[in-house]
Amino acid sequence: MKSVLITGANRGLGLGMVKYLTKHNKAENIFATCRTTSEELQNIAQAHKTLHIFNLDVTNSENYVNLSSLISKVMGSQGLNLLINNAGVTTKFTKLSLVKTEQLLENLTVNTIAPIMLTKALVPLLKQAAELNQDKPVSANRAAVINMSSILGSIAQNDQGGFYPYRCSKAALNAATKSMSIDLKKDQILVASMHPGWVKTDMGGKNATLDVETSVSGIFNTVEKLREPDSGKFLQYDGTELPW
Ligand SMILES: NC(=O)c1ccc[n+]([C@@H]2O[C@H](COP(=O)([O-])OP(=O)(O)OC[C@H]3O[C@@H](n4cnc5c(N)ncnc54)[C@H](OP(=O)(O)O)[C@@H]3O)[C@@H](O)[C@H]2O)c1
Repeated sequence: MKSVLITGANRGLGLGMVKYLTKHNKAENIFATCRTTSEELQNIAQAHKTLHIFNLDVTNSENYVNLSSLISKVMGSQGLNLLINNAGVTTKFTKLSLVKTEQLLENLTVNTIAPIMLTKALVPLLKQAAELNQDKPVSANRAAVINMSSILGSIAQNDQGGFYPYRCSKAALNAATKSMSIDLKKDQILVASMHPGWVKTDMGGKNATLDVETSVSGIFNTVEKLREPDSGKFLQYDGTELPW
């Protein structure tokens, strides 16, 4: 893969993805975006000139054009192979009696609207990569978008209720994945939703069942195998298909 962009790359799964890609030499250029650079991310960038850090609050769509320019500056006319919409927020368990409008709006803004608008802004670069790599099958080596979703966004698997802001925002992100997969099919751009498992990060908490390394290596093993028939699917980190 020539290029990959990961949002929310300063900690948690996003940082884990940067570590994995640099350690295994999986991408020629990594664009890691974050609101605030962490020391860990900065240290990796010092050791790997292929890692480019860009400060981005994903809700600040005015900054997308600068991000796009940076990618073009580094990549020339090669475009962008893989966009991972990873940055996300959640609220703690939210009962119907306690849910607040602000929580619903914040989750929707970060988890749904930002991935849609960022993808929209980067489609020209994804198209460029898809066109330039016509010898390759539809895949992340050509052009792909991975939306980091959650099993909590599955309507079929909701047997606990609650979590209104998070569940609704991820279910809506899943709906966006499906539409993107249809709209971008003609451009040979693959789109999928990914559930990383329950992972030990600030969001997942310490009782989570998976460590970041296991989740991230599963995610990339799965992403590497994705082909055209997988576009529009909701997948778990280990490749299992999930119900919407
Ligand atoms: N961990 C799990 O068990 C789990 C399960 C299912 C799905 N997921 C999904 O996986 C993704 C990563 O989760 P995680 O566990 O790594 O969470 P995390 O440890 O809480 O990290 C969240 C990341 O998102 C970034 N972020 C939040 N709001 C942002 C904004 N407005 N602009 C830019 N960056 C923003 C954070 O940056 P700051 O440091 O600036 O806040 C941080 O880098 C999320 O989409 C999450 O919903 C996680």
